[in-house]
Amino acid sequence: MKKIVLALCCIAWTSLSAQTKITLNTDLGKTQINKHIYGHFAEHLGRCIYDGLYVGENNTKVAHTRGIRNDIVQALKDLKVPNLRWPGGCFADAYQWKDGIGPKENRPSMINVWWGGVTEDNSFGTHEFLDLCEQIGAEPYLAGNVGSGTVQDLIDWVNYVNHPGGSPMSELRKKNGREKPWNVKMWGVGNEAWGCGGNMNAEYYSNIYKQYATFMTSWTNDAKLFRIASGATDDDYAWTETLMKNIPHNMLSGVALHHYSVIDWNKKGPSTQFSEAQYFKIMQEAWKMDELIVRHSTIMDKYDPEKKVALIVDEWGGWYEVEPGTNPGFLYQQNTMRDAMIAGMTLNIFNNHADRVRGANLAQMVNVLQAIILTEGEKMILTPTYHVMKMYNVHQDATLLPIQLETQNYNFEGKSIPAVSASASKNESGINISLTNIDYTKSHEVTISLRGENVSKVSGQILTSGSIQDYNTFEQPEKIKVKEFTGAKLNNGVLKLTIPAHSVIVLNVK
Ligand code: AHR
Repeated sequence: MKKIVLALCCIAWTSLSAQTKITLNTDLGKTQINKHIYGHFAEHLGRCIYDGLYVGENNTKVAHTRGIRNDIVQALKDLKVPNLRWPGGCFADAYQWKDGIGPKENRPSMINVWWGGVTEDNSFGTHEFLDLCEQIGAEPYLAGNVGSGTVQDLIDWVNYVNHPGGSPMSELRKKNGREKPWNVKMWGVGNEAWGCGGNMNAEYYSNIYKQYATFMTSWTNDAKLFRIASGATDDDYAWTETLMKNIPHNMLSGVALHHYSVIDWNKKGPSTQFSEAQYFKIMQEAWKMDELIVRHSTIMDKYDPEKKVALIVDEWGGWYEVEPGTNPGFLYQQNTMRDAMIAGMTLNIFNNHADRVRGANLAQMVNVLQAIILTEGEKMILTPTYHVMKMYNVHQDATLLPIQLETQNYNFEGKSIPAVSASASKNESGINISLTNIDYTKSHEVTISLRGENVSKVSGQILTSGSIQDYNTFEQPEKIKVKEFTGAKLNNGVLKLTIPAHSVIVLNVK
């Protein structure tokens, strides 16, 4: 539905400021934007879990509930996190879940071979993770160990968390203090099976997947399993094709896709103080998500025209060099307005492909990669990415509105990408329109024609900052924060506003 016209030299536009025109069909919505598109990801990596979400039951410095930080829980509740993926990533295929249950003093340690070679003491395990999910009101998404585990281990895990009672595993759960099952529906069958999950090829993994999926039982109707196959990286379309062809669709709820916005895996560039060239490259990489979804979906359509199998982008975000002086294996990076641009644009892309994309997980939640929260001892800050995710949460489970968009390009050294992206949805609060302008320097005059409904009121929020390199620090935690936006004027069903360079705006119209 979305039409992006590359209007570099459009003669009709004579204004100095760039132009974006949007037509919104407010009465033609038919697809729901699945709230799970707004999911998050927490891996046993660096300071995401330990010294991040979890500070330990005996911590006397940071306020916590059963070891989980209260300030983070509040921030995540405010965000309306629909689901949380755990324990990895690469770590998932090394994780032995049985080592993370029972009395903590009896839990064996392991070495986290993927991330810094640190000792993992298993003090944060299944009960602690599911407690976290209950505290923040998110659905758990458990990633099973296929690479170094066994079918029996994974079916035991499903049984342990979901069986109502009477099975050896559910009795063990009860002995460990949890009477009721958690009814976990979302299950990943391995992670990046083509790489850290076992270096398999697609044919081999399809067979392995079928073997695991066959024995993963939905124990009750409250816990009908949603099984997600380890998917392609980036443009590995052959991987998706093989999975869609080889795995019967009644045992396949979703196929994953991973795509990070990275300049060069060998030279990722800093998370702050980046050049315009580095910024432009990251924006190109973020835009690539649109093409990836279109092409993976086209393959899926061939085998599944009714779109029963979901595309789950369960890892996405910006990836840069770690902050100077931090452990290279911990992937700790700052988060600037550039990351807000990645988030705003990517969420618009997901929304506009909501017919096939029905889940996604930003990598990662706390202190790792494109984090929404950073911590330092007792201090905690919300990043620009957090603010975008919160502004956009109005789209969760709303009806997607078809949109036509014509925008001028953001040009850099002879290359061009569309400057403004947008998506819109409708729910009981009215019509919500999200706009992201990634242009480095130019503001855009935006005209939005709303057809199909009479509207009379507009309100809005904006996230912007003087420089694209700006970020929040522990000393200045609110340098970048959401502000009210009163610059949209509504007249006869036409909205007019100016979106500044590198800004995100979300409007509500009713
Ligand atoms: O998110 C960091 C890592 O990136 C994950 O562990 C892995 O799945 C991906 O390669």
